Amino acid sequence: MKREEIVVPEEAIARQRDFQQSIRSMFAAREAHPTACVETYGCQQNVADGQRIMGMLLACGFTLTEEAGEADLVVLNTCAIREHAEQRVFGNLGILTHSKRENPEQVIVLCGCMAGEPRVAKRVKESYRHVDLVFGPQALWRFPELLWQVYETKKRVFDQGDSHGQIAEGLPVVRERGVKAWVSIMYGCNNFCSYCIVPYVRGRERSRDPAAVLAEVRELVEAGYKDITLLGQNVNSYGNDLDTGYHFPDLLEDIDKIPGDYWIRFISSHPKDATPRLFDVMAKCSHVANQLHLPVQSGNNRVLEAMNRRYTKETYLELIRYARSVMPGLVLTSDIIIGFPGETEAEAMDTVALVEEVGFDALFTFLYSPRPGTKAAELPDPAAREDKQRWFDKLLEVQNDHSAKIHAGYVGKTVRALVDGESGDEEFPLSARTEGNRLVRLKGDKALVGRFLDVKITGSNTWALYGEPV
Ligand code: SAH
Ligand code: SF4
Ligand code: F3S
Repeated sequence: MKREEIVVPEEAIARQRDFQQSIRSMFAAREAHPTACVETYGCQQNVADGQRIMGMLLACGFTLTEEAGEADLVVLNTCAIREHAEQRVFGNLGILTHSKRENPEQVIVLCGCMAGEPRVAKRVKESYRHVDLVFGPQALWRFPELLWQVYETKKRVFDQGDSHGQIAEGLPVVRERGVKAWVSIMYGCNNFCSYCIVPYVRGRERSRDPAAVLAEVRELVEAGYKDITLLGQNVNSYGNDLDTGYHFPDLLEDIDKIPGDYWIRFISSHPKDATPRLFDVMAKCSHVANQLHLPVQSGNNRVLEAMNRRYTKETYLELIRYARSVMPGLVLTSDIIIGFPGETEAEAMDTVALVEEVGFDALFTFLYSPRPGTKAAELPDPAAREDKQRWFDKLLEVQNDHSAKIHAGYVGKTVRALVDGESGDEEFPLSARTEGNRLVRLKGDKALVGRFLDVKITGSNTWALYGEPV
């Protein structure tokens, strides 16, 4: 597709603003003060989408509430990555039949990745008749128009969006107050890892213009955000579709020139596209955190190939070796799937061995969950659930031991940390993050939120460090 077709023209965005105004006027004429509740599931990408949805709702005249049952409009911004995520949403949709019965005017919206699956849209159409609006991630920027249709026609509206997807700049946004912010630098995914639903529901890879990303990061830094995470399903392919020779390391270098006291992080990075240049640039840029999330998924080459990951255990290890050589003390994390169809115990133990060899700082571990429509869901999957669970537990045990050891090594040291909020804990009421994104529970007053501090570490466990400001 041509760039002009991918970037939504300003006139089209302006039309959505008109729909926002129409909804606002409709409520004003009724002297209504409508409330909306947005529940977001899934990854940071979806959280970032949820913040746009809230922005558009405010522009439509809604006030936000956390109480789904009492809200005039409920949005479930869903995730489709594993079966469990989908079941939770269907459960919550079921619960909403009660509030809709009490308040028939309530509007119920299902969006996000699940809504991008034709299978789900069909099921909702047939069996969840209280849902008024269903739209996939590609239709997000047209939310005001779709919502207007619901109010105007009083009919149910279903819109999957086009399968490729576009880029819409300038949508309103409600950010979390505080020190952390997320910036999508690209949308979609072209990788089609055989287990994964994302490329089917989020369309093709498309990169925002560097100028738009830079302007957004600058604005955030100026507004006082101090921990900014760049988002993409594979940030290493940023720019490939721009055909200008400008790639992710170039973007990092340009962001790094923005003056201020802040950290830049990014997720996720696909090992097949991670290059020594990326690591050299990370090492050189003073704002880029000394942290890398590099999902390996498996430590067995046959499984990696069946997953369509397009790297081997050996090339992965080589990447890490280089990254650590240019970034001493690098905090390294990863994603792992246990129980891919056809995986044997020996293959799963190869993953455990890789984890032992690399010594990750932390892991996100998942039991394989078949996603209808993906290649892997068609493969024979003979291993018993209990066996997979046993392999999974073994992996966790190895990682937890290692994480606890790494954390214990911090006790007595002083580290720089950013206080990002309150923890709810009486003895250690503040929560903070190190540059490597390790969690620190901290003594001190809440007036310290938003500050970088030197923290003396006094204790640790598997998940966190404990300390006090020096
Ligand atoms: N684009 C990111 C991953 C996004 S999904 C990347 O490639 O790194 C986050 C993680 O969910 C994946 O890394 C994978 O470990 C896990 N995951 C994806 N599909 C899954 C499935 N069908 N079953 C279990 N875990 C899955
Ligand atoms: Fe899914 Fe692979 Fe794309 Fe990540 S890179 S979103 S795991 S298909
Ligand atoms: Fe994210 Fe879940 Fe969609 S992990 S991209 S919200 S399927």
